[in-house]
Amino acid sequence: MSDIKTKIAGIGYYVPENVVTNFDLMEVMDTSDEWIETRTGIKERRYATRMKETTATMGVKAAKIAMERAGVGPEDIDFVIFATLSPDYYFPGCGVLVQRELGLGKIGALDVRNQCSGFIYGMSIADQFIRTGTYKNILLVGGEMHSAGIDFSTRGRGVTVIFGDGAGAVVLQPTTEENKGILTSNLHSDGRYAEKLAFMNPGSHGGVFTGKTDIFDEEEKYGKLMVNDKMVEEGDHYPNMEGPFVFKNAVRRFPETICESLEAAGYELQDLDMLIPHQANLRISQFVQKMLEIPDEKVYNNIQKYGNTTAASIPIALCEAWEKGKIKDGDLVCLAAFGSGFTWGSVLLRW
Ligand code: ACO
Repeated sequence: MSDIKTKIAGIGYYVPENVVTNFDLMEVMDTSDEWIETRTGIKERRYATRMKETTATMGVKAAKIAMERAGVGPEDIDFVIFATLSPDYYFPGCGVLVQRELGLGKIGALDVRNQCSGFIYGMSIADQFIRTGTYKNILLVGGEMHSAGIDFSTRGRGVTVIFGDGAGAVVLQPTTEENKGILTSNLHSDGRYAEKLAFMNPGSHGGVFTGKTDIFDEEEKYGKLMVNDKMVEEGDHYPNMEGPFVFKNAVRRFPETICESLEAAGYELQDLDMLIPHQANLRISQFVQKMLEIPDEKVYNNIQKYGNTTAASIPIALCEAWEKGKIKDGDLVCLAAFGSGFTWGSVLLRW
């Protein structure tokens, strides 16, 4: 392969104006500021304005900033990738909505369904297209509107308090500059735990993998597997998570993937200038940081303000860290994620 690498030419993020504190959540469910902050580090999150904002519209706002900073217009973008677990529509994906709303050409639009690792998967995909010379300006967006589909009753508190809305975007371009661009990436999955952190309905599974068939009517001849009244009555149309199990796996996989990237590129942990972990939970990030003995100034966290924005969390944190001057030209930056699937992976780059 040539010496072409993929660089981030422009980056932007958007979070909705509406700030929802832990105290606000205490008004609708049985929870406490102390419980949420102690377990997750989160103090507040943003929620999109109902019926005015969507995952795609937030993605468009982030994309416009990234495109402006990259100095490119709609006519320059030759491929779009959108990572989300909370799309505007079950289908089509958010990629085509961004293509339409930004007035992009009749280019390819791909949606990535890898939840918390979606942005990492998206970067790796874009990197392949750019290094092979296929595309020159890829728009990669990660966006979530979790507030549209989580359970705001006490039943859902273990999941709901963690998540927030927002979007981040990058424009990726080829570069031959020596000290710039993506050096390596790795992607992983372990489908044995697919149901440990999942949003299963609507879906076609009919209880095949879980044995949970009581939400389906066996007398029905056709249909009614994706959505039915029973599902809604029992709250099975909300995401579920085995929190402690997710935690245990996350703190194992984050260090593995970070070290794998460093080793593949011939670096050691001390060489790292900045780690941007997916903002899953502040306790997970702190655990990983401690295991790897990375000093505070080399890890960026902002989950305290935004909650877990899943596919959007890495580009939001990366952009914010860069805007604050915490990432400079030539810095060795590692982006790492773990989440539903389970899927995990990392990207190592020179800024
Ligand atoms: N407020 C008050 N009490 C709560 C809340 C809440 N919001 N949520 C759960 N509880 C209660 C539970 O009902 C339980 O009560 P019980 O003991 O009477 O049954 C008690 O708190 C403890 O519940 P656990 O789930 O065992 O709490 P834990 O200490 O493990 O913390 C948490 C839960 C924060 C979810 C933790 O397991 C965790 O951080 N896991 C990782 C999850 C994560 O980060 N997911 C996102 C990553 S993947 C992605 O980004 C999609």
